[in-house]
Amino acid sequence: PQNRSLYEAVGGEETFRRIVARFYAEVARDEVLRPLYPGEDLGPAEDKLRWFLMQYWGGPHTYGERRGHPRLRMRHAPFKIGPIERDAWLRCMRIAVDEERLPEPYRTQLWQYLEMAAHSLMNSLE
Ligand code: HEM
Repeated sequence: PQNRSLYEAVGGEETFRRIVARFYAEVARDEVLRPLYPGEDLGPAEDKLRWFLMQYWGGPHTYGERRGHPRLRMRHAPFKIGPIERDAWLRCMRIAVDEERLPEPYRTQLWQYLEMAAHSLMNSLE
């Protein structure tokens, strides 16, 4: 059906769980991104990104229930995000999304959103 959410169309929570887990496996060994994350455990960051993306694409509102309004620009303000960090983030996410082999048009829709979001969270020109 035309108005089924992307969340449902791509397979729901399990699909988002795999994408975000794969993304953080890349972050864990990325020398640009890893130092930005507070603490030893990337688990909490993984949970928040998974909840956020599930909610954004029409799934359950777990993110809002646990974290409130996203305010993503404000929440990223403590981290310097210039072109290098943005590109590193997108490189990790590209691997995660590609491995999922989502059908079109969902793959392109998801990817265009992630690119736009990563550009919009830049807060430094260098
Ligand atoms: C939180 C880095 C882009 C969604 C964070 C955190 C870092 C980070 C270091 C803190 C993790 C924590 O609280 O444990 C970056 C960098 C990006 C980027 C370097 C490069 C552009 C994005 C994008 C999205 C996103 C594009 C969404 C599509 C989130 C969410 C949180 C978060 C939902 C948790 C916010 C909360 O506290 O509730 N990010 N991020 N980030 N990021 Fe990003």
